Amino acid sequence: MAFRLIVGLLYLIIGYTQTASIGGSSKDYDTIVIGLGSAGTTAASTLARAGRRVLALEAQDRVGGRVHTVPFGDGIMELGAEWIHGTKSSRVYELALQNNFTVLPQDFEPKLYYGFKGKEVDGVLFMELINYALKVQGETPSEPLPLGQFITDRVFDYLKEKHPSVLMDKEFLNQYLHFIDTMVDSNEGTTCWNETTTASEYEELEGNQYMSWHRLGYKTFFDVLLNKHNNGSGLPTLDIELKKEVTKITWSQDPTKKVEVRCKDGSTYTADNVIITVSLGVLKERHETLFLPHLNEEKTTAIDKMSIGVVGKIVLLYSEKWWPQSNAFGFIWTLEEEQKLPDEDKWLYNVTNASETMGNTNSLVFWSCGNTAKLIETLPDDLVKRKVTELLRKFIGPHINTTIPEPVAMLRTYWHTNPYTRGTYTYDNLLTPQYPTARSDLAEPITDSSGNPRILFAGEATNSIHFGTVHGASETGFREATRLLQKSS
Ligand SMILES: Cc1cc2nc3c(=O)[nH]c(=O)nc-3n(C[C@H](O)[C@H](O)[C@H](O)COP(=O)(O)OP(=O)(O)OC[C@H]3O[C@@H](n4cnc5c(N)ncnc54)[C@H](O)[C@@H]3O)c2cc1C
Ligand SMILES: *[C@@H]1O[C@H](CO)[C@@H](O)[C@H](O)[C@H]1NC(C)=O
Ligand SMILES: *[C@@H]1O[C@H](CO)[C@@H](O)[C@H](O)[C@H]1NC(C)=O
Ligand SMILES: *[C@@H]1O[C@H](CO)[C@@H](O)[C@H](O)[C@H]1NC(C)=O
Ligand SMILES: *[C@@H]1O[C@H](CO)[C@@H](O)[C@H](O)[C@H]1NC(C)=O
Ligand SMILES: *[C@@H]1O[C@H](CO)[C@@H](O)[C@H](O)[C@H]1NC(C)=O
Ligand SMILES: *[C@@H]1O[C@H](CO)[C@@H](O)[C@H](O)[C@H]1NC(C)=O
Repeated sequence: MAFRLIVGLLYLIIGYTQTASIGGSSKDYDTIVIGLGSAGTTAASTLARAGRRVLALEAQDRVGGRVHTVPFGDGIMELGAEWIHGTKSSRVYELALQNNFTVLPQDFEPKLYYGFKGKEVDGVLFMELINYALKVQGETPSEPLPLGQFITDRVFDYLKEKHPSVLMDKEFLNQYLHFIDTMVDSNEGTTCWNETTTASEYEELEGNQYMSWHRLGYKTFFDVLLNKHNNGSGLPTLDIELKKEVTKITWSQDPTKKVEVRCKDGSTYTADNVIITVSLGVLKERHETLFLPHLNEEKTTAIDKMSIGVVGKIVLLYSEKWWPQSNAFGFIWTLEEEQKLPDEDKWLYNVTNASETMGNTNSLVFWSCGNTAKLIETLPDDLVKRKVTELLRKFIGPHINTTIPEPVAMLRTYWHTNPYTRGTYTYDNLLTPQYPTARSDLAEPITDSSGNPRILFAGEATNSIHFGTVHGASETGFREATRLLQKSS
């Protein structure tokens, strides 16, 4: 009896193992790529096109990561990245060109600025000072400073020389500084511009910083990489598994051992090496449980000291365009008006910017960042819709003859709430001068005792100069794929 029970148990165990191997490691992969954002998709497609057998595991039910094109209105909306930032030597722009896709510049001029009724700002001076601040932003003082402090000091020097009387106008200064603060923040994902350093290593690519995929959608980039565009058949040596959340990567110094990747659903896969591309936000939250053995101190310090920001979009769709002839609007708050806001509405003070998109007609995108964006993610739809409509009626209402209508649809982003992103993109924070090698430390592959790379790191955060962008993320995927291809195994 006991004997038969043991045999039965053994049979069960063997049966289980076999099933697991059919669903899992029955195939022999050279490389497992974790995450199919820009970095992972570039890495996986580069390796597969070179004939490597690749398995890509993506936690979400779609490819693209922090690029997310969805149908909206009479076209599409980009919930994540929207523009190609610069064209020269851009992997994204070049792919578009080579495939004869037209990408178009989105020109944000003229931009209309609105203050409160009776508190209109001097638009000419405002514009002059914004342009001055943008120019100064590109400069690097010899000693690293918080960006906000640096810009403020320079603007005050400029005013002293050009418009000394403005220095007495506390209200104007307040309005201007808050506006320009949120403007910087919306590019970094920070709560305050003093969280960013002047010592940032970020380098813009030459060319227009706002090239749009318009109605084609940024997802086209991924379709082409994966040979899915125009009903393409994919890549023969690349297997893609969606809804596969990786929970454990087990590796060994022993050159004869494979790397094992375990997923939340219990499936396991093995390969010679793994490229991990998850965001810095995901690494911060999970690195302690994700790797076995744990990451070394160099890597955990990098993960700890670097920062990822949050940018939020609220998109309102209208049955027709009711707003004045401009594709972008600035809302210029006064401190007095901020103080009138009840506590639960204070976040509106930091919503200072709305713009049209080239993905559809008749919608406006409202931008938020840092703690404001995090907070908005937690608010209910109807409240957000109502408050943003109030904002429009307050700022633009007095300037037009019609009543600003209710939107017919709304879309919102949840990049902080999303457990597979936990933020939008990294920025160089005040610790950057102290930890100048953090990004390259994170990018360093983990090798076995014979020096072969086993766990490789890609993703936007690992790009020392082009972080925070789709082209920069793609560069890192290409970098790690090339590292493996050069090691002709
Ligand atoms: C709102 C917003 C606006 C932006 N605007 C622009 C812009 O205009 N231009 C620009 O160039 N850049 C922009 N960016 C930045 C750009 O989108 C990112 O830098 C880039 O897409 C990051 O790519 P990545 O491959 O490094 O990471 P990701 O795209 O985050 O890819 C990582 C993938 O890993 C997956 N993953 C996470 N955890 C796991 C797990 N445990 N198991 C399996 N898979 C997992 C994720 O689901 C994700 O698909 C924007 C980003 C956001 C969010
Ligand atoms: C792009 O257009 C050129 C010129 O018309 C053509 O030679 C080329 O084959 C096209 N490329 C693709 C990928 O369609
Ligand atoms: C930024 O830092 C400067 C200098 O420390 C300070 O004067 C200014 O108030 C700060 N700005 C904000 C918005 O906190
Ligand atoms: C408005 O939002 C866009 C997109 O983030 C940004 O590039 C621009 O600087 C913002 N402008 C202002 C005035 O905040
Ligand atoms: C792709 O396939 C779908 C369904 O099979 C078809 O409707 C569509 O026209 C095809 N698109 C192209 C570009 O061939
Ligand atoms: C609004 O932005 C300021 C910095 O300009 C910040 O101090 C404040 O916390 C933000 N408010 C909210 C609700 O996020
Ligand atoms: C509003 O209506 C008045 C009177 O009809 C007109 O003179 C003015 O130009 C209109 N303003 C706008 C912004 O349309």
